[in-house]
Amino acid sequence: MRSVFLFAQGSCRVTWTRRSLSRPKTLLIAFSALLTAQAAFGSDVYFIDKNHSNVGFLIRHLFTKVPGRFTDFSGQISFDEANPEQSTVEVKIKTASVNTDNDLRDKDLRSPNFFDVEKFPEITFRSKSVKATGQNTFDVTGDLTIHGVTKEAVLKVEFTGKGKGAGPQGTITPGRDSTTMITGWDATTTVRRSDFGINWNQTIEGTRVVANDVQVELHVEAESLLAPPELSPALIINTFEQNNGPHPGFRRIHAKGVGVTGYFESNGRGAALSKASVFAPGRVPIIGRFSLAPGQPYLADAPQPPRGMAILFKLPGGEEWRTGMLNIPVFVANSAQGFYDFLLASASYPVIGDPDPARMQAFLTKHPESAKAMQLIRSRPVSSGFENSTYNSLDAFRFTNANGAVVSVRWSMVPAQPFEPVNTTGPEQHDKNYLFDALIASIHSHPLQWHLVITVAQPGDPTNDATVPWPPDRQQIDVGTLTIDHVESDDTSPARDINFDPLVLPSGIAASDDPVLSLRSAAYSQSFTRREGEHKDPSAVSPAETGQ
Ligand code: HEM
Repeated sequence: MRSVFLFAQGSCRVTWTRRSLSRPKTLLIAFSALLTAQAAFGSDVYFIDKNHSNVGFLIRHLFTKVPGRFTDFSGQISFDEANPEQSTVEVKIKTASVNTDNDLRDKDLRSPNFFDVEKFPEITFRSKSVKATGQNTFDVTGDLTIHGVTKEAVLKVEFTGKGKGAGPQGTITPGRDSTTMITGWDATTTVRRSDFGINWNQTIEGTRVVANDVQVELHVEAESLLAPPELSPALIINTFEQNNGPHPGFRRIHAKGVGVTGYFESNGRGAALSKASVFAPGRVPIIGRFSLAPGQPYLADAPQPPRGMAILFKLPGGEEWRTGMLNIPVFVANSAQGFYDFLLASASYPVIGDPDPARMQAFLTKHPESAKAMQLIRSRPVSSGFENSTYNSLDAFRFTNANGAVVSVRWSMVPAQPFEPVNTTGPEQHDKNYLFDALIASIHSHPLQWHLVITVAQPGDPTNDATVPWPPDRQQIDVGTLTIDHVESDDTSPARDINFDPLVLPSGIAASDDPVLSLRSAAYSQSFTRREGEHKDPSAVSPAETGQ
């Protein structure tokens, strides 16, 4: 194994506190109008798991009941165990997914004779009231919309149980693990199709071919992905792995990247803020890595995924400063729970790359700070490449100068290369490594430079919330220039074996009170420990591509 810089001298202690990760006791989730009629306070929200649920029906054909089902549906149950009457349910069924194991019949069912799926793509049920009828049974009354017609319907519901969602053998459901709570439900109702304008009918010798009444049966497993009882670094890394698929040997996020080397030349102006040796006038060597944020090492380059710049400054006396920065203005979450909820909401479900909009909406409702941050992230100007991107620390840190004065700061690497807007239509978009290839070509043609700009907080600026930008008029000090003059594939670069832990800091720089910092430190360590013990497949950006 090549050299491993894990926890260098002078680093801060990693603090992974239970408190920073514990879940709030009560979930106060106000559903937006998009989700369902009433706000559900004191409820836990359970999402229907398609992998373990069935939405079926029985309809009499001549003298026999023929079964059918829908294979594409989603929904959520907001279950208030203490006050079941406060619970709400919403189910959406894609009519085109009707399946009776006969293609000809299914074609007919999708046609204007029955569901008319082009015109009416969804069946929906939204509860309006819940009445307990026994210990675990309920009448759930709500609006049922089929074929564009809404009628009141009553679902006879039985709560069949609740418990942990996965054992040691694992699970087929993405995002779920042994901490996920699941609930089970059975529900039945009878639908008179003529009430909904589905009138197709024929008789044979006086016998109706297809009955008017349809028996509907739901067997549902629903999971509370937004409310894990225990959060841990391992759970976060497991979730990265579930969201991205298994890619042993690679970083669990920021999997695709290249290593770089160069130096940082301090102009001495940072010394007024911090006694860290990196700010004394002069030059220190650096090793770094550019990456794309997703955890898929062979993903084709694209403009939108966040770009990362990670730098390890090698300081006198064996000290190090490691920093990871992103080309986004704020971070998506301000707590461990918020980030975990974000991962679950963006989990591909059930196919990688296809997140469930209802989950994302529930996440944004629960985390308005993330909704605001995502607006800022989405509306940021995206530059054409790695070389003209600005990379931001996002988290706040504390600087202490030689006189003991402490200030809170964030920092950015601002490119000397001029900004050019992203070009989404150029022919290079067809090359799966086009962003990395452009970076490699620029470094081969001339060294690239960034100014390290420190932004100093004013009293009252939040230092524990990376979703909130600081006002634009804050003092900014250009403290020196980063020069990058060499690039290597991950296959040969020593950067592959570095953990860019944001809490490896020299004397004069310390962590702020931002809880995301200790979360990051613990998660990077999990990712690093796992990948270092695994077989390494070749990087998408090969040594031939970087000119080795
Ligand atoms: C302020 C917010 C964040 C910034 C600026 C940031 C930045 C970065 C960068 C630039 C890298 C690439 C490092 C490299 O090339 O080796 C990285 C890697 C990584 N990040 Fe973050 N990140 C942030 C938040 C998070 C959070 C909240 C988590 C998880 C809890 C996380 C987990 C990881 C992991 C697991 C890696 C790979 C570590 C390794 O295997 O070496 N990051 N991050």
